[in-house]
Amino acid sequence: MNISIIGTGNVGSSLAQGWLKSGHKVAFGVRDPHTFGGGKLPGLSTVQAKTVEEATEGADVIVISAVPQAVHEIASSLGDVSSKIIIDTMNSVRVKPDPYNNTTEALVALTNCKDIVKCFNTTGAENMANPNYGIMRIDMFYAGDSAKAKETAAQLAKDLGFENVYDFGGSDKFQLMEHFAMSWINLAIMQGYGRDFAFKIVKRQTSESN
Ligand SMILES: NC(=O)c1ccc[n+]([C@@H]2O[C@H](COP(=O)([O-])OP(=O)(O)OC[C@H]3O[C@@H](n4cnc5c(N)ncnc54)[C@H](OP(=O)(O)O)[C@@H]3O)[C@@H](O)[C@H]2O)c1
Repeated sequence: MNISIIGTGNVGSSLAQGWLKSGHKVAFGVRDPHTFGGGKLPGLSTVQAKTVEEATEGADVIVISAVPQAVHEIASSLGDVSSKIIIDTMNSVRVKPDPYNNTTEALVALTNCKDIVKCFNTTGAENMANPNYGIMRIDMFYAGDSAKAKETAAQLAKDLGFENVYDFGGSDKFQLMEHFAMSWINLAIMQGYGRDFAFKIVKRQTSESN
């Protein structure tokens, strides 16, 4: 897939690194391609930096991993995204993109994209760079109203190495996805467990499932 990533920090760089390894074509959409210093992780020097508008034009999928307060500016730079898929990784941890509750709700309202999904927001960037915990691979989660966008996000999560991708539901679950992200942040930072852990769904083996 042709993937453009807007927001090239911890999340954008981790996703770019993984998708390059799995054979996708990645470009960065940045504020100023001339002053852009490159992605935050090794192996990203070949990724082309374009303006947000140019990056959008060439993309099948646009991944937005910028700061939530930039969502209005980014939405207005995207242009016609009616035939694109948008994946929103952002969480409004400290700043809400007023008058919207969260960035995904804002993107639904401010762009003409029909296929928007919230994904890659519920765990730390380190887990996106490496979802492999030795004896098991961790899970990813998504929410949104577009089956097409969800199918694409699931494929891209599996390409990174996530084991299963679970559906949180429709756009009414965007906020719940942010609360889930806050639960990870709470354990990692406020409760001091560190960033090397992840949520995984485990299922009891029943006679029906055997
Ligand atoms: N860090 C995590 O573990 C994690 C996990 C899940 C979700 N998230 C969420 O994902 C988002 C990104 O987090 P992060 O840790 O990757 O942040 P970060 O390292 O601070 O990177 C933010 C990126 O956004 C870019 N940006 C800011 N304003 C922009 C604009 N107007 N147009 C285009 N790009 C703009 C910044 O570009 P400049 O370098 O030019 O400022 C930077 O590349 C946040 O919403 C966060 O809540 C983070």
